[in-house]
Amino acid sequence: MRVQVGIIGAGPAGLFLAHLLHRAGIGAVVLESRSRHEVEETVRAGVLEHWVVELMQQLGLGERMLREGHVHDGITLQWNRARHHLDIAGLTGGKRIMVYPQQEVLKDLIAHRLAHGGEIIFEVGGTSIRGIDGDHPAIDFRRDGNGPAETIECDYVVGADGFHGPGRQTIPAARRSEYHKVYPFGWLGILARAPRSWHELIYTHQQDGFALLSTRSPELQRMYIQCDPNDDIANWSDGRIWEQFHARLGTDDGWSLTEGPIVQKGIIPLRSFVCEPMQFGRLYIAGDAAHIVPPTGAKGLNLAVADVVVLARALAERYRAGRVDLLERYSAVCLRRVWKAERFSWYMTTMLHRNENESDFEQRIHFADLDLVRTSRASAVSLAENYVGLPFD
Ligand code: FAD
Ligand code: DHB
Repeated sequence: MRVQVGIIGAGPAGLFLAHLLHRAGIGAVVLESRSRHEVEETVRAGVLEHWVVELMQQLGLGERMLREGHVHDGITLQWNRARHHLDIAGLTGGKRIMVYPQQEVLKDLIAHRLAHGGEIIFEVGGTSIRGIDGDHPAIDFRRDGNGPAETIECDYVVGADGFHGPGRQTIPAARRSEYHKVYPFGWLGILARAPRSWHELIYTHQQDGFALLSTRSPELQRMYIQCDPNDDIANWSDGRIWEQFHARLGTDDGWSLTEGPIVQKGIIPLRSFVCEPMQFGRLYIAGDAAHIVPPTGAKGLNLAVADVVVLARALAERYRAGRVDLLERYSAVCLRRVWKAERFSWYMTTMLHRNENESDFEQRIHFADLDLVRTSRASAVSLAENYVGLPFD
C-alpha cells in the first residue's frame, strides 16, 4: 500500500490529522491497535478549548457537539469551604469552553472519516516504523493482530500513538531528550448516574486535597478525587468515595451534593513528560506520544489537537508549494505551546492538590495563589486565558 502520510493511532491527534489532511487534499491511512468499539468507549478527557470547538465546526463535525455538549462561561474554584466563580468569558473577551467527552469527539471523527472514504484500519498488530532517516519511510503491520505482514510505504510517518506507542521509541535515544515529573498522587475518577449538583465545573482544594466536579449529561456526572496513585480501586467502596466527595466539596452555605449509583470507577497516575524534539527525519510525533500533562486544567486532548494543526499546515505547504521550512519548524513551534501547557497543568496541579512531601510553607503558598486569582485581575486573566486555550503563536 502506498500513501502520502501514514498515521499510527486513532486517538484525537491521529484522527484530527486525518481530517485536516483530507481537507488539504493529502492522502492518509490511520492504523489503530485497538478495536473501534474500545476506542469509542474509553472514558478520558471532557473539556474542549474554544478553538477546538470552532475547528470541529469547520470540519463539519459540530452538529452533535452543539446539540449534546455543554458550553461553560466559567469555572468555580473552591478552598476553605468557599467558592469563587472565575468568569472565563468575561476575562477573555467572550471565549468559552465546551464540555463534550473525548469518546464522543472520537465517534464523530471516525464516523465522518469512514463515511467520506477515509481509511482507518483497526485492530492492527506488530506495528513498526522503518526508513525514517531516508526518503522512503514505511510502516509494517499485521491486520487483526496476527494476519499476514503488510507494509504502508509513505512520504511521512506520524506517530500519534500515545505515550506507550512505538512512535517516540523509533527516534534514536541519543537524538532525543526526555523531561519527566511524577506526582505523588493520582486521580480516582467516577461516572455517577445522578443529576447535576452545580451549574459549572468545580475545582476544589480542601481537607484531604483535590476534587473535581464535572459533568457528562444532565443525568451523568464525571467526578475525580485525589488519591494514592498506587491504591487499589477495590479499597474504595462507593460509600467511601461519596464520603470524600462530600468532605472536599462541602461548603457552609447549605449547598448539598446529589449522590447516585456509581457506574464506573478507576485510578490514573499523574505525570508531566516532554520529549524533544518531536521529529526525526521523516517521522513526526504528536499528542501524548510526545508529551503528557497531568489532567488538572484539561490540556491533554487540546494539546494533541494543537500539534496536528501545526503539522497539517506544514504538510499542506509541502504538498502545495514544495516548501519544507514549516515541516522543519514543526517541533520548535509545537514545543513553545507544549511547555506553556506543561507549565499551566503543573501550576493547576500543585496549587490544587495536597502534597504530603511539601512543607507547611509551600502548602500555604498554594492558598495564596488561589486567593490571588480571587483578588487580582491579572492572575484571573492569566488562569482564564490558559484554561480557555492560548492563541496560536
Ligand atoms: P491517545 O488518545 O492515547 O491515542 C493514541 C492511540 O494510538 C490509541 O488509540 C492507541 O490505542 C493507539 N496505539 C498505541 N500504540 C499503537 C500501535 N503500536 N499501533 C497502532 N496504534 C497504536 N486529559 C484531559 O484533559 N482530561 C482528562 O480527564 C483526562 N483523562 C485521561 C484518562 C486516562 C486514563 C488517560 C490515559 C488520559 C487522560 N487524559 C485526560 C489525557 C487525554 O485523554 C490525552 O491527552 C489524549 O487522549 C491524547 O490524544 P492522543 O491522540 O495523543 O493519544
Ligand atoms: C474533566 C477532566 C479534566 O481533567 C478537567 O480538568 C476538567 C474536566 C472531565 O473529564 O470532565
